[in-house]
Amino acid sequence: MTDQNKQIAAVESQLRRDADAIALHHLRRLIHQDGRDDLCFHFEDLTVDCTRQPLTHDILQQLLTLAEAKSLADFIKAMFAGKTINLSEDQPVSHCRLRTPDYRQSEAYQKLTHFADNVRANQNIKSIVNLGIGGSDLGPAMVTAGLAGYHDGPVVHYVGNIDPHALYDVLAQCDPHSTLFIMTSKTFTTSETLANGGLVKGWLEQNGVALDTAMVAVTTYQERAVDWGIDPARIFDFDESVGGRYSLWSAVGLSVMIAVGSKAFGQLLDGAHAMDNHFETAPFASNIPVIMGLLRVWHRSYLGHMAYGIMPYDQRLARLPAWAQQLEMESNGKSVTRHGKPLDQPAGPLIWGEAGVNGQHSFFQWLHQSVDICPIDILIARKPVNLLDDAAWQASHRTLAINAVAQAEALAVGVEQADAPHRHFPGNRPSLMVSWDATTPYALGRLLALYEHITVVSGFVWDVNSFDQWGVELGKKMAHDLASKSDLDGFSPAAKAFLNRLNDEPI
Ligand code: F6P
Repeated sequence: MTDQNKQIAAVESQLRRDADAIALHHLRRLIHQDGRDDLCFHFEDLTVDCTRQPLTHDILQQLLTLAEAKSLADFIKAMFAGKTINLSEDQPVSHCRLRTPDYRQSEAYQKLTHFADNVRANQNIKSIVNLGIGGSDLGPAMVTAGLAGYHDGPVVHYVGNIDPHALYDVLAQCDPHSTLFIMTSKTFTTSETLANGGLVKGWLEQNGVALDTAMVAVTTYQERAVDWGIDPARIFDFDESVGGRYSLWSAVGLSVMIAVGSKAFGQLLDGAHAMDNHFETAPFASNIPVIMGLLRVWHRSYLGHMAYGIMPYDQRLARLPAWAQQLEMESNGKSVTRHGKPLDQPAGPLIWGEAGVNGQHSFFQWLHQSVDICPIDILIARKPVNLLDDAAWQASHRTLAINAVAQAEALAVGVEQADAPHRHFPGNRPSLMVSWDATTPYALGRLLALYEHITVVSGFVWDVNSFDQWGVELGKKMAHDLASKSDLDGFSPAAKAFLNRLNDEPI
């Protein structure tokens, strides 16, 4: 065993002992301990309150020691330096470069802003439809909704699903003569996006609209888009080393740029870049992504929580949990190490969530009283973006914020009801509050970069490759085989019977 491995093993066994010890301390008492304020971390107007975590200063110190023992600092350095850290695909990881001021001087970015500005200025374009799925949909769709207060461009729709109803319902709201379609696909091979693009081609043709004028593409593989029929001058590219779920900052964000304008889009990038700088340079003891990433590890690997909830108390960020779900689960839902060896403990948790307050009237029952414990992040802007001059509407936002903190308290503290078990709240349920001033483009960019880095930090500590996603391939191949009926030997009788029930030719 190397010295480094010995050190890691020693910290890990200390953390296991810490987990046993902390189980004896109820959060209801822990939250009142002296010095607990030090578990609140600040960066600009962003505050991350970890005081309701099953955590002490000593445990945090052990987690930081684990990160050091694993050489997290070298990994962060390697990521920002563009070293090959995505080993299974033999690539660097370059989404952070897209947030730098330098990138904004590039020809690719200038071409994008020029196009977006022209579309915004064109009175004939009333709606935009982004056709893309996964990372080519979730990020832009979530940010467009999140920045509704800044949306002064044409209406933007997002269609990801191959379910024809999704596209049908959107087309019903669009005029073929005033709609711009953006085919967004990093690989330009994704069957859902190509199928929807094909349906749109037909719809445009029926309405006498030329594809050249109504459609553009965002992709890394320009030649595929050209072969598919897109005008080469209307293709926006981005680098292969930008992973799909990390790609909203690239040309994949074109729909967002058209919605809010290139200035606000630039502010989104600025916020992300500020978080990148903090992540790259702050000492681990005050480095928010490092601390939050280590808390993921603490909950999953030492406290045994297999799920993690993300609850934005922000209706406009209702799709943030879906975005974070792809981000964390596609990145860290793995069972082998970066070098292909089986993991000796599980990695990434199940990520789920819903806009706060709405959740309180449904699944929060389970959070408060189920046998299982699921830690959550509660996300809240302290001020609304709009409505600042109206006291009654302001008061609604205050009620929203108060609900957020009330839930955090209730989950932690609970209430003893020995004589009425159904009214008993065990408490001791961890939450972490992330709050910021207002959901401006800058603040949102900073928040999203934070969650990206949490994913990278936790994935690194678990020793998985957070940048590949081989686990999505088998289902795609099977769908292809079933659709083409090319290789059905390995399929179950039930699958074949289902095909017959679809009223196909019997097989
Ligand atoms: O199938 C999963 C996936 O490859 C994601 O990783 C990706 O974000 C999504 O599909 C869409 O891929 P593309 O942008 O290449 O169409």
